[in-house]
Amino acid sequence: MTLKLQIPPLNLQSNSKKTSVHDTLDRQLHDLRLSVIDRCNFRCNYCMPQGSNPSRYSFLHEKEWLTLKEIVRLSTLFAQLGVSKLRISGGEPLLRPNLAELIHQLSLIDGIEDLALTTNGSLLSQQADSLKKAGLNRITVSLDTLDPQLFKRINGHKGTVEQVLKGIEEAVRVNFDCVKINVVVQKGINDHHILDLVEYFKGKKPILRFIEFMDAGNCNNWKAQDVLPASEIVKIIHAYYPIEPLKPNYWGEVASRYKFMDGSGEVGFISSVTQPFCRSCTRARLSTDGKIYACLFSPHCTDLRKLLREGHSDEALLNLILKVWQSRDDRYSELRPQIRASHVQSAKIEMFQIGG
Ligand code: GTP
Ligand code: 5AD
Ligand code: SF4
Ligand code: SF4
Repeated sequence: MTLKLQIPPLNLQSNSKKTSVHDTLDRQLHDLRLSVIDRCNFRCNYCMPQGSNPSRYSFLHEKEWLTLKEIVRLSTLFAQLGVSKLRISGGEPLLRPNLAELIHQLSLIDGIEDLALTTNGSLLSQQADSLKKAGLNRITVSLDTLDPQLFKRINGHKGTVEQVLKGIEEAVRVNFDCVKINVVVQKGINDHHILDLVEYFKGKKPILRFIEFMDAGNCNNWKAQDVLPASEIVKIIHAYYPIEPLKPNYWGEVASRYKFMDGSGEVGFISSVTQPFCRSCTRARLSTDGKIYACLFSPHCTDLRKLLREGHSDEALLNLILKVWQSRDDRYSELRPQIRASHVQSAKIEMFQIGG
């Protein structure tokens, strides 16, 4: 593949089949995470707490969203730069009109080998079948507790555990390649529900992943003492259900995997606070309105929609994406202690704008 570059091709490597683009820390651009809507029908206290007005944010007007055609065009360009994995997120992606159509078109892009989606599960029982038929390979559902009252308290009294469990059952029934469950653990809030979740899902198809509560965005009132380190979660589970580490499925896998020693499946731990994994971070993120973010915690972005709507060529867009990736030096989680101690932190992107 030949690309006419306006910038020096610092780390661009190409063979007849695949192009790879590397950042300043030699991390290859490999995944693209697409936020397809910034709205959500939940108000999780760790993301968009009820009544908060994060950075005076107003939800995007529909005209500001990238159209399906624009999303597909950009994803195709990312694929030409070596992206083979797409994850669709939100807000809540199942609120995006014509989502199945989008998935179908994304699944046809040359070079895309893995198409996944993260949802809160509330609308999944109605949509799982059409998403699967459209070409979605894998799905991740957020579920922080099985306790109906606590669930409502965490998500701002919006959805119910019952709806989400129904969605998960349907995802299993329609036979996605993989179904994962994301549990954000907040000390003193849902840490005493860890074992209930393990008991419920152990031996079933969905794979649980416990995630350390992160200082994402600007409105979740994060404090370091609210984080239960993944190492503690491992101990809590191991005491009742012995587990042992497994090898990662692929280099740079976000979750550390463990298997239940009785053979009843696996469980994962995502420890971005206590054991950052920035060194292997290969993820670019695209917001609903077409801005690229090089890091989940970045205050900075680059507007691709502007170029798209001004009628620029694919080559111009590729050059801009290259420039962003090749100059990338983000490693927020590694630098978190220093950045937070400095008290000069700029406002970060919100999780519901960029989707976890
Ligand atoms: P797989 O493709 O299934 O391996 O997914 P994944 O491990 O990338 O997991 P997923 O996309 O579901 O991410 C799970 C959670 O991990 C997210 O919701 C975030 O909370 C956190 N996470 C994912 N990627 C990053 C990242 O790049 N940085 C940080 N700090 N956290 C991340
Ligand atoms: N800390 C950790 N994970 C978070 N998510 C959202 N906010 C946070 C946070 N503050 C993740 C959850 C959810 C996904 C959409 O984003 O895993 O499943
Ligand atoms: Fe919760 Fe996800 Fe909605 Fe944020 S976007 S409020 S994490 S369901
Ligand atoms: Fe990647 Fe930023 Fe997360 Fe580090 S903090 S793993 S650089 S997204």
